[in-house]
Amino acid sequence: MQWLLNLPTVLWRRLLLILQGLWALLWLIASGIGALFGSGGTIASRLGAAIGGAAGQRHVFALLRLLQPNLVLNRRTILAYPNNGITAIASRHADVTDILTRDADFGVVYAPRMEAITAGENFFLGMQDSPRYTRDTSNMRLVVRRDDVPAIITPYVTRAAAGVVAIVPGAIDVPQALTQPVAAGLLDQYFGTPGPSEAAIAEWTTLLFWYLFIDLQADPDLDARATAAAARFREWMDGHIAERRAAPPKDDVLGRCLAMGDAGLPGMTDRDIRNNLIGLLIGELPTLSATANLALDELLDRPQPFAAACAAARAGDDATLAAHVFEALRFRPLNPIVYRRAMHDTVIAGGKLRRRRIVKDSIVMASNLSAMFDPLVIPDATAFRIDRPWETYMLWGYGMHACFGAHINRAVLPALLKPLLAQPNLRRASGARGQIDQAGTPFPQHFHLEFDL
Ligand code: HEM
Repeated sequence: MQWLLNLPTVLWRRLLLILQGLWALLWLIASGIGALFGSGGTIASRLGAAIGGAAGQRHVFALLRLLQPNLVLNRRTILAYPNNGITAIASRHADVTDILTRDADFGVVYAPRMEAITAGENFFLGMQDSPRYTRDTSNMRLVVRRDDVPAIITPYVTRAAAGVVAIVPGAIDVPQALTQPVAAGLLDQYFGTPGPSEAAIAEWTTLLFWYLFIDLQADPDLDARATAAAARFREWMDGHIAERRAAPPKDDVLGRCLAMGDAGLPGMTDRDIRNNLIGLLIGELPTLSATANLALDELLDRPQPFAAACAAARAGDDATLAAHVFEALRFRPLNPIVYRRAMHDTVIAGGKLRRRRIVKDSIVMASNLSAMFDPLVIPDATAFRIDRPWETYMLWGYGMHACFGAHINRAVLPALLKPLLAQPNLRRASGARGQIDQAGTPFPQHFHLEFDL
């Protein structure tokens, strides 16, 4: 009987799936025509820009969810990590979450590049489900404590972001003046690992994040730059750990690591501490800075939500402000996909019409962006709404390897943006300066905004 009661909802959601897919098809056809007759660059580059952008990706995935929810391509999409040259792309919420929780079937690929960065050792993001993974994440959770988020991290970010906005004269280059310095400041004040300078730590962590996660085509030039940055990073960390050992104890992340090392805890030699902190630092700086800029850019493109977010910032309504930031990121996550490698021959969506066989060593791309727009699971998926349950958001992975910094991200991103959003008449600077400039990197490097004084 229950199935009969559920039937209208099921049918309605299926209809939405079809409508979303058809609308996406029309959008993509219109973009193709636009690229054919547009100006500037080649047809391919114009098409790439339209489809590769955030809206384009959402439409491609809407079509995939309808027509090919688990698309298998005989195509090598990743050269940076070993695989068999086959790539599967999963776009439905049910399959994305299934893939990212089946750790024995779909393993992380990052170990070789993690080992290159540390000159020998893996870091837990590159580890399969194993005793070593549990040991290392447990050690790091003892030093990066959830209690620290309200006690240390949010107060620091609130203070630092307000300090920056208070001294800029009605014009700000957001990544350079706000998001990068505050994220770097957190590495100094909370982690106890400032790097030799803000510029150096920003450059190293950005290059190494790029190398690990984004350089899918294995660019030899990037490889050389990342190798050099990793060597300098290791050398600085070794020296810094030695200095800290000689100095009076301090209660920050590094200080807690050193205390655990002194107590002889397994996995906490100075070398282990160095490698774990390198992994955490790479995860912290470029991601927080980039994600804050993406949220801001997405909000600026939506006048009504932008005005509401600014009003919430001014009124000190943190919950409403945060809801706007995370809903903006649903449309614009930093990582739209999470990739894995099949550990053995297996299947996706077993027992369903969309079932696909996956051969050992295939790359499997699970699109968290697509999952967050799947009308079979997410109500009113294409609308910008601030009343969604937190579980809707798959902004930093899912399953065992979901972001170690998840609680930090949730607190830091709104706190980082709040003082800026509270400024009167906040707007983009005119022309290209008011758009995100990645300056040849995968991350926002310049983004000029203005406000009234
Ligand atoms: C908004 C900013 C951030 C974004 C978008 C982000 C994104 C992600 C994603 C997508 C994953 C999963 C990767 C995978 O499953 O293959 C991940 C894992 C991870 N992130 Fe973040 N991250 C952010 C901030 C941080 C911060 C602040 C830290 C450090 C405190 C951090 C440290 C890590 C670590 C260590 C992992 C591996 C977790 C594991 O393997 O268990 N991230 N992050």
